[in-house]
Amino acid sequence: MDVSVIGTGYLGATHAACLAHLGHTVVGFDVDRDRVRQLANGESPFSEPDLDELLRDGVSSGRLRFTDSPELLAGASVHFLCVGTPQRADSAGADLSAVWSAVDLLAEAHAGPALLVGKSTVPVGTAAAIAKRFASQVGAWEVAWNPEFLREGHAVEDSLHPSRIVVGTDSESAWQRICELYQPILDDGARIIRTDFASAELAKVASNVVLAARLSVVNSLAEVCEAAAGNVRDLLEVLGSDDRIGSVYLTPGIGFGGSCLPKDVRAFAERARELGVGESMGLFDEVDRVNLRQRSRTVERAFALAGSPDRAPRIAVLGAAFKAGSDDVRDSPALAIAGSLHDRGARVRIYDPKAVPAARRLRPDLSYTEDAADACEDADLVLVLTEWPEVASLDPRVLANRVARPVVLDARLVLDADRWRDAGWEFHSVGAAH
Ligand code: UGA
Repeated sequence: MDVSVIGTGYLGATHAACLAHLGHTVVGFDVDRDRVRQLANGESPFSEPDLDELLRDGVSSGRLRFTDSPELLAGASVHFLCVGTPQRADSAGADLSAVWSAVDLLAEAHAGPALLVGKSTVPVGTAAAIAKRFASQVGAWEVAWNPEFLREGHAVEDSLHPSRIVVGTDSESAWQRICELYQPILDDGARIIRTDFASAELAKVASNVVLAARLSVVNSLAEVCEAAAGNVRDLLEVLGSDDRIGSVYLTPGIGFGGSCLPKDVRAFAERARELGVGESMGLFDEVDRVNLRQRSRTVERAFALAGSPDRAPRIAVLGAAFKAGSDDVRDSPALAIAGSLHDRGARVRIYDPKAVPAARRLRPDLSYTEDAADACEDADLVLVLTEWPEVASLDPRVLANRVARPVVLDARLVLDADRWRDAGWEFHSVGAAH
C-alpha cells in the first residue's frame, strides 16, 4: 500500500521505517529539512535500537523516502498523522498546532479523498473535529484513530510486536484497510481492538495516566519507607508477588519524566475539566505534584549527604537521560536535579553513556564528562540518577580511590548495596533510611 507518515519524530520515523519493513511504500514528511536529509540518508536522528538498520534497508530498497515537499503526499492513499502534541506554553493542555497544520496541508495537497489515520496523542474529541473539518473543506475523507504505545528505547520492538493495536473508526472500509496494513503483525498474533474515536484517543492517554499514577504511588511509599526505616525493595517484592499488582513498572526513583507521561497527565486532567468532569481530576493533579516532589526531595537529600560545610559540595551525577536506553533529556528528572544542585551552589560533574550531547545542548552551563570515574574525581557524593547498566556495573573499589568521601545515593535502585558497602562505601538509596 502507498502510505505517508506526517511528522518524523520518534513516533513517525519509527512508524515509517516499520511500515516499509512490512512491505509498504512509504513517504515520510517533515517540515524540518535537516531531519529529512538525515533520514533520507538512512540515519536515525536519535539513538534507538535497530532503527538505523530498518531505515537503511527501507531507503536502499526504494520503499522508504523522506521529503519536505507536501506535493509528494498526494501519491499516498493512507496518511498517518504522527506530529508532536507537546504541552502548551500557556496552560496544561496539549498544543495541537502541528496537528491542524498537518490536516490543512493534507487538505491542500490531496486531489481526492483518502484515509487519515491519527497516531499522535491528542485530547479526546480531536478525531471527530478533524473529520468535521475534512467534511467541510474537502468532502468525504475517512478518519481513524490508531494510537501508538511505543516506549523510547524499544520503539522498533514495540511497533513490530505490539501488545495491542487500537483502531477507533466508524468506517468499515477504514477498519479493513488498517487491518490489511498491519496484516503481518496480526499474523504474528498481535491483538487488535476496534473502538469509536473517543475511546481510541482515550485509550492512549489512559494507559499513560495509569502508569504515571502507579509510579507516584510507589514514590510515595518509598518516602514513607525512608521515614519509617523500612526498605522499599522488600515492599516491592511483596507487592509484585500479588498477580493483581504485578512486578513491572513499579520501581520508585526520582519521578517519571520524558516527553509523554508528565504532559499526558496534565493534558488529561485539563481535557476532563473542559468536558465538565473535572471533579475527580484532583487525583491526577496529585500524581503530578507527587512526581515533581521527587526531584526536590532528591536535591535536599543530596545536599544533606554531601556534607562539606566549608566548601561547595562536589557531586558526581551518574545519568542525565530521562531513563536508561535513551539519549533523550526532554523533561528528564535527572538533568533537572543536576541543574538544581548546580543552581544552588554544588559543583556538579555529570556522566551519561549516551545523553551528554543532548544534555549539553539543553544545559550548556553544566559540566560533563565522558567517563564515570572522571565524574567521581574528588566528589563528596556520588548520585545515581539514571538506571544505566553501565552505571550498575561500575566497580565501587575503583571509584572509592577517586572520590573525596565514599558516599553514594542510589536514587534509582540500580546498585548492589552489599557490593558497594563491602568496598567501603556509605550507601544510601531511595526508599530506605540508609
Ligand atoms: C511511555 C509509555 O510507557 C509508552 O507506552 C507510551 O507509548 C509513551 O510513553 C508515549 O506516550 O509515547 P516512555 O516515555 O518512552 O514511554 O518511557 P517509560 O519507559 O514509560 O518511562 C517513563 C518514565 O517513568 C521514565 O522517566 C522512567 O524512568 C520512569 N519509570 C518507569 C520509573 O521511574 N519507574 C518505573 O518502574 C518505570
